[in-house]
Amino acid sequence: MIEKNTQILIVDLGSQYTKVIRRSLRYLGFHSVILTPEKSLEWAKNSGIKGIILSGGSSSVYDSDAPQIPVDLLQLGLPILGICYGMQWLAYTHDKDSIQNKKDAKSYGAVEVVLDKNRKSKIFENLYEKNDGKLNAWASHGDSLKKVPDGFEIIASSNGGLVIEAMQNIEKNLYGVEFHPEVEETEDENIILNNFMQICGAEIDYSKKDVIEEIRENTRRELGDGLAIIGVSGGVDSTTLAAILAPALGDKLKAFMIDTGGMRKGEIEKVRDLMQKSKINFEVIDKYKNKFIESVGTTVDAEEKRTKFREVYGEVFRDVARVYQATHMIQGTLATDLIESGSGGKSAMIKTHHNVDLDLGLKEIMPLSDYFKFEIRQLAHEFGLDELVSKRQPFPGPGLYLRVVGVPVSEELLETVREADAEVAEILKKHNLYDQISQTIVALLGIKTVGVKGDGRVYGYSLVVRTVATTDFMTVKGFYLPAEVCEEIISTLSRYPHIVRIFFDYTSKPPATTEFE
Ligand code: XMP
Repeated sequence: MIEKNTQILIVDLGSQYTKVIRRSLRYLGFHSVILTPEKSLEWAKNSGIKGIILSGGSSSVYDSDAPQIPVDLLQLGLPILGICYGMQWLAYTHDKDSIQNKKDAKSYGAVEVVLDKNRKSKIFENLYEKNDGKLNAWASHGDSLKKVPDGFEIIASSNGGLVIEAMQNIEKNLYGVEFHPEVEETEDENIILNNFMQICGAEIDYSKKDVIEEIRENTRRELGDGLAIIGVSGGVDSTTLAAILAPALGDKLKAFMIDTGGMRKGEIEKVRDLMQKSKINFEVIDKYKNKFIESVGTTVDAEEKRTKFREVYGEVFRDVARVYQATHMIQGTLATDLIESGSGGKSAMIKTHHNVDLDLGLKEIMPLSDYFKFEIRQLAHEFGLDELVSKRQPFPGPGLYLRVVGVPVSEELLETVREADAEVAEILKKHNLYDQISQTIVALLGIKTVGVKGDGRVYGYSLVVRTVATTDFMTVKGFYLPAEVCEEIISTLSRYPHIVRIFFDYTSKPPATTEFE
């Protein structure tokens, strides 16, 4: 839904981060709307917006199927900020010879951007004094600018001047940045986007308190006279959503937890307890457990596993919906899930999510589809949900099935990762590390290697412990554990009969995803 008086238009050119731009603006207090290039001009002309942001995207301006941004957007006299592909398009539109695909000028990951103090720009105001005008930023681009078009000037660069990181045309109010100011790895504390809001003359029009009421109101409206079911996985999103909606929907909402066999240790009991405390209509359904194991255990391929899990998950929900004569299914799907499933506009598919685009024969409501993980945690907290929810680490819907990697999932291997996960969590809590880590993943790697235990040869699997820090899971950084904690984990996990080695994985995302599958 497009709110009236929305001040900023974000044109979606296919970036994984388009919704992150909107989130960052919301965080700063500004409403914005995301539209495709095709819809952008008509809307921009008629809506009284104050500025336009062109997102990044995976295309090259030279691709025949590159997004076609209406050039007339430039005639509206509004301030425009182009990010990554958006900046390349701005340059290309003014000078067809301004873009290059040069090996040394490509950049994926962290980059140190040097702001040009001799050509100060409003877009970098309050950043020149910090860290001597050097900004740790995040980039993800193959193409880059060879030169800036006439009328533009270079205002930041990296790699010894090899990469043009930012440009401006003050007269036309056009700005471009090659890196991504919207992601948290760019350490500008959202100052760049906030500066752009000042350039646009935008006024703060968003308050965090609106969010709960907005979620309830939108859901009530979509549900009408219907009856809704919601699957509660024990993760932050669905649990928080059920708790937010329960008082608003009363008897029109029924919450379920499906025991898939892939839950963490003690999970079902914890969720039952929480649901009772929040007075939510709730039931645990456990008769389908074997069906999940039998079906998912027939493949080791990550996408096939997810597909099979989804199929059984969908079947179970169809059964449940029939029994309760439900008309609607409420999903705790977040913006991240939609973006990475390729359903969030024009971004590329990274993984199939178990709860996205399920055809249940029910109408779907996704009240959280515009929000990110840290916002849901804040909501849980503001809503007065107990610490268990707001501080709980996220857990994927297909659960431990995604954490038995490279061998068919069996009940025995699920039990190994379940126990190992609980033991690692205990160790991290003992060392006061658990709450500092955004997510801890313990997975079994199904490659056999040789070990020696009790003077005998063992030919067994490995466990890998992955600890990461992030706020939105669109990007993550490894959370490095102290050596003595690693030692304790190694000695605890190597007691498992078939486990020979323990690995620690601190790879960032990108290139690795948070989960292994
Ligand atoms: P990735 O691995 O994509 O994970 O970097 C980002 C976050 O999403 C969680 N995740 C899922 N959550 N259903 C979910 O509800 C899923 O299919 C799923 N796959 C990943 C993951 O645990 C991490 O927190």
